Amino acid sequence: MAKEFKRYLVTSALPYANGPVHIGHLAGVYIPSDIYTRYLRLKGCDVISVCGSDEHGVPITIKARKEGVSPQQIVDRYHELIKKSFEGLGMSFDIYSRTSSKTHAETASAFFRKLYDEGKFIEKTSMQYYDEEAQTFLADRYIVGTCPKCGNDRAYGDQCEKCGSTLSPDELIEPHSAVSGSIPVKRETKHWYLPLDQYEGFLREWILDGHKEWKSNVYGQCKSWLDGGLQPRAVSRDLDWGIPVPVEGAEGKVLYVWFDAPIGYISATKDLTPDWEKYWKSEDTKMVHFIGKDNIVFHCIVFPSMLKAHGGYILPENVPANEFLNLEGDKISTSRNWAVWLHEYLEEFPGKEDVLRYVLCANAPETKDNDFTWKDFQARNNNELVAVLGNFVNRALVLTQKYYGGTVPACGELNDYDRETIAEVAAVKTSLESNIENYRFREALKDAMNIARIGNKYLADTEPWKVIKSDPARVETILYVALQITANTAIAIEPFMPFSAAKMLRMLAVEKFSWESLGATDLIPAGHTIGTPELLFEKIEDDVIQRQLDKLAATKAANAAAEASQNVECQKDTIQFDDFQKMDIRVSTILEAEKVAKTKKLLKLTVDTGIDRRVIVSGIAEHFTPEELVGKQVLVLVNLAPRELKGITSNGMILMAEDASGKLRLLQPDEKTNNGAIVG
Ligand code: MF3
Ligand code: ZN
Repeated sequence: MAKEFKRYLVTSALPYANGPVHIGHLAGVYIPSDIYTRYLRLKGCDVISVCGSDEHGVPITIKARKEGVSPQQIVDRYHELIKKSFEGLGMSFDIYSRTSSKTHAETASAFFRKLYDEGKFIEKTSMQYYDEEAQTFLADRYIVGTCPKCGNDRAYGDQCEKCGSTLSPDELIEPHSAVSGSIPVKRETKHWYLPLDQYEGFLREWILDGHKEWKSNVYGQCKSWLDGGLQPRAVSRDLDWGIPVPVEGAEGKVLYVWFDAPIGYISATKDLTPDWEKYWKSEDTKMVHFIGKDNIVFHCIVFPSMLKAHGGYILPENVPANEFLNLEGDKISTSRNWAVWLHEYLEEFPGKEDVLRYVLCANAPETKDNDFTWKDFQARNNNELVAVLGNFVNRALVLTQKYYGGTVPACGELNDYDRETIAEVAAVKTSLESNIENYRFREALKDAMNIARIGNKYLADTEPWKVIKSDPARVETILYVALQITANTAIAIEPFMPFSAAKMLRMLAVEKFSWESLGATDLIPAGHTIGTPELLFEKIEDDVIQRQLDKLAATKAANAAAEASQNVECQKDTIQFDDFQKMDIRVSTILEAEKVAKTKKLLKLTVDTGIDRRVIVSGIAEHFTPEELVGKQVLVLVNLAPRELKGITSNGMILMAEDASGKLRLLQPDEKTNNGAIVG
């Protein structure tokens, strides 16, 4: 039998404050957690939802160094940006806190100290890279060298971004410090470790036996971690940004970010309510962690072991982690700017918050990675939100205005079809509830939209706009029923699309309903006057979508250019001025161009070199069409020894630049010049 809980504690992964939030974060974590929380609130449950910025860790210090500002400035900037954009999208956290807060430092320190005092850690010394010039230990990310797998000479001590390999600093060839550029030395350092191996039995029983109901991607990952054998994990780091290790002789050491961050859920709850302990220490509380799949091990293995070691805290009841969302077929990447950023979306699509919420939920990567495309965004808006939901609500409200001046008509006798329709609407509730409670938000959203579909079909089938002429009394009943379905729709979509739900209530001129009213047929009483109908959603035109696609194309081009500039060939051996002087390069004009028969690559060009007209055969047919070349001025090496190509004698060479992708470009004088002008 399912356990009964008195209250809920919903946590959402604390986003790193080193960049803005994008659609991948939203679809994976925040949209599902907000739907879940809003649903529980509507049901009248005792629920709190906590989140905040994760403000420690190496990437923040790297970003700060790159920009020449302090880590605090970085986290201040992104904390504000993330907080504001979450609000803009209607995220209804009860608190959005931050891990640089005083409460958090105290909570995390005390947590560490208790485990330390009770001997729950092991101490180990190891050899770590140390930068003698900058007098600092180097996090793996701060060590740069050549990748042993692909030869990339800008690989990091933890990863090569070129070939994607996971690395350790010891594998790097010619490692050097990213801080000072000097060659690091190995130095002994002491750290504290949580012996996860000692918690294996507890974890096996708790997860593998006790939580078989967890999503298979989550359960599977836990099982493979446990089957692989757990190792002690360091909980401290040599770094000057973070919460100091609260132990004598630990100068220069801070808590590892993955030790302090999840404790952030506890500190956030403390900052929210003096009654925080009832959410964290009572078995009556159901705690649910919303996260992305890269966080599974920390929330299912590490944090629970910390909580267990500490004692007195509850464990999560579920950890409904999602897979990843891609964007237009490519992995979302902050460093490559391949993302749709929430703050930009909110600026570019004002009033369309719910469209994004809808599309990201409808397309959420619940069981496998998924792809966000702007075409799909447009189609879902136009074909589902506008054509189904918006259309239904608009027809019900506009007809009520038109026929009755906005006063809700009385309900006459219901016929069989009315009753069937009402029963269908009422039946949605069970399925919708079960889907939300089991973290199947895509299905739940379909259920909610189904109510509008049923309403739409009801109006299409009953055709009040025709019946009004023959049987006006019947239309009163039809519109009464349609308005009740509208009110039901408003309840059902609230967790998913709170802005639209609120707008519907405004248009119906009613206060918020409780979840329990879902299915009722007396929500909008006869005689009540509704407000002015407005459109709930607008069609999104092609040009709007095209602008977004253009923006992504520009990003792609910029990335390719940046990459190309990193892949520059080494310089050739030195030559003397005389060597250069031997080359006779002239400005020339291409007069004719044609493909050389039976070849793919060759073009036969006739050029005016100013000296003469001559034929040059050039291997550029895959890069240029003959038409686009004719009339162009180019640079020609005219004293190159003639060569025979496919039976044609070539008398020179056209100069080209080849970029890293292999694309060729013509070199031209910046203004029209006389043919024969000397280049040198
Ligand atoms: N900042 C982490 C990430 O974005 C998530 C931290 S979740 C917490 O992957 F539990 F540690 F807070
Ligand atoms: Zn590599």
